[in-house]
Amino acid sequence: MSLLDIYVLGAPILREETRPVTEVGPEFQKLVDDMFETMYAAKGIGLAAPQVGRTERVAVVDVEGARHVIVNPEIVMREGSQKGEEGCLSIPDIYADVERAMRVVVKAQDREGKPIEIDATELLARCIQHEIDHLHGKLFIDYLGLLKRRAALKKWEKQRAGDKSLTRTVAALEVAQHHHRDEEL
Ligand code: NI
Repeated sequence: MSLLDIYVLGAPILREETRPVTEVGPEFQKLVDDMFETMYAAKGIGLAAPQVGRTERVAVVDVEGARHVIVNPEIVMREGSQKGEEGCLSIPDIYADVERAMRVVVKAQDREGKPIEIDATELLARCIQHEIDHLHGKLFIDYLGLLKRRAALKKWEKQRAGDKSLTRTVAALEVAQHHHRDEEL
């Protein structure tokens, strides 16, 4: 397995539509395994293919031990609502409240291409909705009102301090040293 670079806000790939996965061979499964490794190293609870520069319609999540590979996911039911703070591995250190469905039922395929259905609530539901958005070029900051969005982007530019790079490298070191928050998706 290997750690992948994470694309950050400003990278065009984060705004692109993904392509349905039609073949789950060894190459695809290696991508999935690398995505898990990268997500854990970055202390995230979810990661979608565009975040590692890929166009496959796949995301990985691990919320409190609920570990899922979601291939070609589709939300077939949503219910209720929840408001909570979100972050994103592609927009480090920026957080904002986002309203999401409290419960979603998702149809997808797993790492082996087998059909699965996930019935998720609370944080897992939030995480899955966030990752599925990534697969359609959408980011959590898109949900913010004009002023909050502008404030978030300003903070992002400020902490970037002129850095124009479109990727960041996740160091294995980050696992031990970095005190990330749990909500980065
Ligand atoms: Ni994200």
